[in-house]
Amino acid sequence: MKTSAIILVGGEGTRLRPLTLDLPKPVVPVLDRPFLKFQLDLLRKASITDIVLCVAFRPERIRAVLGDGHADSVQLTYVLEETPLGTGGAVKNAEGALGERVVVMNGDVLADMDLGAILKMHGETRAAATIVLHPVDNPSAYGLVETDQTGRVTRFVEKPKPEEITTNRINAGLYVLETRTLSLMPKGVPYSIERGYFPALIASGERVQAFTHEGYWIDIGTHQKYLQVHLDLLSGRFPHEIQASRRGSGYAHETAVIDPAAVLEGHFYVGPGCQVGAGSRIEDGSALISNVRVQGATIRQSVVWGDTEIGGGSLVEGALLSNRVRVGRHCHVGRGSALGDGVVISDHSRTS
Ligand code: GTP
Repeated sequence: MKTSAIILVGGEGTRLRPLTLDLPKPVVPVLDRPFLKFQLDLLRKASITDIVLCVAFRPERIRAVLGDGHADSVQLTYVLEETPLGTGGAVKNAEGALGERVVVMNGDVLADMDLGAILKMHGETRAAATIVLHPVDNPSAYGLVETDQTGRVTRFVEKPKPEEITTNRINAGLYVLETRTLSLMPKGVPYSIERGYFPALIASGERVQAFTHEGYWIDIGTHQKYLQVHLDLLSGRFPHEIQASRRGSGYAHETAVIDPAAVLEGHFYVGPGCQVGAGSRIEDGSALISNVRVQGATIRQSVVWGDTEIGGGSLVEGALLSNRVRVGRHCHVGRGSALGDGVVISDHSRTS
């Protein structure tokens, strides 16, 4: 039986704006690579190399980053939606490109799931679809999935009210589907896999199986989680071989130039072409992605993208800075700040 994969990468990523105004969320940089490469790794580990990318928003940016997949030892097929069709409509739109079984993944989830074990359970329980669940502390912002004793899914509850919270296991954004069941989906119209397809499948009497993933799981869809994922990778909470040399408990790329009078501490990443001048401090949880110049400033728990410059005496903390940002001297870019492409902050300014 041929198993394909679909990665849903057509969303606008509104919660991660302004980072995603120009660059789709699935290809935002995360340390040393575009985010989607983590997902290609997960699929490749389970020997799934036939991968369909369902694209709608800025498809050319995704294609420019990943091409035909050759460099990542996978084969990528792009299926375009003229207008976004939602998570289910996107899968239906790609039906013709699939084998008999398909793994569907949201394009914003990082997890150390054992895809082989998920596929095994799917086959053994003869499920029409399997949905991966993950326990979280506060499930109220997610879609909940209720099951019976045997792990068979009985009900979905989207964005539950407090009295409706009967489980802490949420939809983790990874499914295995028998391709034949896509006949339940309407074609060419917006349709939700969570609110449309799964309830319809359960109502039709087919078996929908749950697989609980207890390990690492995060979706990078908000500013706070995008910062968190960097910290988790840097601290080793999510194991990843970072393409840079170790420096104390952080990492610095071999092309980065770091003045001996700069202080670097905790878990940090200084990427290719970055310059860290005398008097600078790069503190825990900070990632300078590429060609960032820090001239005597302090960077704390922040992610700074490419070709950005931060002037002397400034403090950037708990912030996200995109490409080509200029932060002047003696500025305070504070917690929760998110600066889009090309923003200029003049000397002595404060944000948030
Ligand atoms: P927000 O706007 O911040 O909610 O982000 P989002 O647009 O990515 O939406 P959400 O996080 O709910 O989407 C989950 C996954 O489905 C992401 O990987 C999206 O790229 C993807 N997705 C959402 N809507 C569509 C769509 O209409 N078409 C396709 N192909 N993918 C979609």
